[in-house]
Amino acid sequence: MNTITTVAHPNIALIKYWGKRDEQLHLPTRSSISLTLEAFVTETTITPSSDEYDHIIVNNSQAPDRIASPITTFINYCKNKYALSTPITIQTSNNFPTAAGLASSASGFAALAAALNVFFSLRLSPQELSMLARQGSGSATRSVTGGFSMWHKGVLPDGSDSYAEQLFPQTHWPELRVIIAITQQDIKIQSSRHAMQQTIETSPDYGAWIATSEDRIASMRNALATKDLPLLGELAEQDSLDMHQTMHTSKPPINFFVPATYRVMRTIKEIRTKQAIPCYFTIDAGPNVKILCLDEHVPTLLKTLNDIEGVLYCITSTIGPAVHTKDKEIHSV
Ligand code: PMV
Repeated sequence: MNTITTVAHPNIALIKYWGKRDEQLHLPTRSSISLTLEAFVTETTITPSSDEYDHIIVNNSQAPDRIASPITTFINYCKNKYALSTPITIQTSNNFPTAAGLASSASGFAALAAALNVFFSLRLSPQELSMLARQGSGSATRSVTGGFSMWHKGVLPDGSDSYAEQLFPQTHWPELRVIIAITQQDIKIQSSRHAMQQTIETSPDYGAWIATSEDRIASMRNALATKDLPLLGELAEQDSLDMHQTMHTSKPPINFFVPATYRVMRTIKEIRTKQAIPCYFTIDAGPNVKILCLDEHVPTLLKTLNDIEGVLYCITSTIGPAVHTKDKEIHSV
């Protein structure tokens, strides 16, 4: 068994996943659609272990328990499922803040699932690989397929129809950009895993949000197919706000925002209305804001965003590929 390195990119949901219909199998309550961030990269290397134990190294050091424990659970799940016994060392590193609401678990589990697939010659198809990554983190499903992807919620109890599909490749919309406004780099206050379950169980707004799902998925697919930024942006912004509303009304309330998050949202709405620049925000389980816009407006937006109190820095990204091995040019495993 040779050393293998895989590369994956986090994805940002335009129509969000927040909540499971099956906790064990990580089956979502709704389908979701995402785009992949080319600028953020996770690299994961698997080598045979030098002793009889598995080792997990995240960003060049022993991972804290909160980060290592879901990885251990995932490795044990895979070892069990495929009857694997060889002890391994996993080294994974991100070029962006880990566990800070920037989807490091999406790229992390996509890269890990792909690395296990190659290291142990499991020969999984992209569809099967996306279902395996799902067991690590729901959103990882979509980082397996990259570009613009849809995670089908599926209806079968065994989860065999809950996988990701690439709707459009990374080259589909060359002018589209995502600016990530970093307002905090710390490990987030609460894991999404627990926060989403609490939301399902206690928010009175959850059912109404789920009821919008089918229409929003259909409209988002249309916005992507026709490259309609205002349609895409309005939908993504509304879906993100609605998701956060379900958290704000859960008991006890969950709020991932910091003051700078509100300032960025306000500024983006102002730029859109006063300067007629098409720009829209979306926010995940953290305080950082992702802004959807076109290439030509990036310099103007960056100038304003960097001046907002509490914005630490901004990163601009194009659309990224599916998970792939490091030595392969083609984007497949
Ligand atoms: O994959 P998880 O368990 O980290 O959940 C991700 C949830 C959101 O990022 C908030 C939304 C999404 O669809 O990615």
